[in-house]
Amino acid sequence: MTRAGKIALVAGARPNFMKVAPLLRELRKYPKMFRTRLIHTGQHYDAEMSDVFFRDLELPRPDRVLGVGSGSHAEQTAKVMVAFEKICVEERPDLVVVVGDVNSTMACAIAAKKLCIAVAHVEAGLRSWDWTMPEEINRVVTDRISDLLFTPSHDANENLFREGISVDRIYFVGNVMIDSLLAHLPKTDSHDALQRFGIEAGNYATLTLHRPSNVDDPEVFRGIVDVMVELSGELPIVWPVHPRSRKMLERLGLIQRIASSRGMKLTDPVGYSDMLTLNRCARVILTDSGGLQEEATVLGVPCITMRQNTERPVTIEVGANRVVGNHPATIRSAVHAVLKGNGPTIRIPELWDGKTAARIVDILIRLSPGS
Ligand code: UD1
Repeated sequence: MTRAGKIALVAGARPNFMKVAPLLRELRKYPKMFRTRLIHTGQHYDAEMSDVFFRDLELPRPDRVLGVGSGSHAEQTAKVMVAFEKICVEERPDLVVVVGDVNSTMACAIAAKKLCIAVAHVEAGLRSWDWTMPEEINRVVTDRISDLLFTPSHDANENLFREGISVDRIYFVGNVMIDSLLAHLPKTDSHDALQRFGIEAGNYATLTLHRPSNVDDPEVFRGIVDVMVELSGELPIVWPVHPRSRKMLERLGLIQRIASSRGMKLTDPVGYSDMLTLNRCARVILTDSGGLQEEATVLGVPCITMRQNTERPVTIEVGANRVVGNHPATIRSAVHAVLKGNGPTIRIPELWDGKTAARIVDILIRLSPGS
């Protein structure tokens, strides 16, 4: 990197925004050292999947918006690559920073690398070993071609060593998403979101579902919805519905069935602050998200992950997370176990302390020529 290096930060989908915000803020503390550009690929585009996060996280407007939208994996990945390649040619950044594991992450990493632009991957090294997950492909490809790999946990370092990635490219820095969480936690003290849903702190569950493995197969999805409706008789369930799940609920005619259950509280996707409030005060978090497993861990709220595996094993090791698959019976018994209150004490993983972005920027400063 040259001095006053030009850094392009990429965000595309909802789980990227809370990772990019602390990085951008930290980099902009050093205007003589770094010129930053925020690029939004437009993989997520609905106001409640994107704009609300810019507002809640106080992110500046993106410098460039690629507007790629939805599509098949090949279409979406290709559209991002074509659009981002043009940006790279026009703006010639010294470093492209990508975060997470969505299609935009991999697409921008490939486009930049083929133009011989250095790539840094934040949240490197996570592995589910499940090749049916598009994210696993995105993770492996992005890590393989990245010049700098910033990892959130020791298991991620070990995965990268095993894959033969040179140790001098790997930096254990902690979890950047937790920087956003800890910065915004004080704003959730008022509990407004709970009043809106008519729920009490400690006496409801938060539910999110969007993995194709849970949502796209009608039988699996119906099974999960049925067990949620049943459990909502014991504990209200707040469900901000992802667009993928909304489509399936409508297709299967399940909206009416859910509406007839008083305990099920469906809503459109909610913003960052509302979601943080809902998660912080929940008795249990039911999810198939990656990020939510980590947020639950730091919030000290038990998490039940409705997947066959997790790329975030540290959340299990510290006692926060149980990976239970997607069969109604196992989901039901996991929720009952949490409600009985016999779970382990939850610990916070190393370096999930709100200072990850600062550590990353320190490393970038150290690596800048002439520093
Ligand atoms: C994507 C990521 C996933 C991440 C998730 C968070 C990939 C492969 N997947 O999954 O890793 O956990 O985001 O939400 O990158 N849609 C809208 N409005 C939007 C965005 C999407 O209606 O603003 C609908 C579209 O119909 C689209 C569907 O949701 O076809 C799925 O969107 P897509 O970005 O393809 O995947 P996600 O399931 O959101």
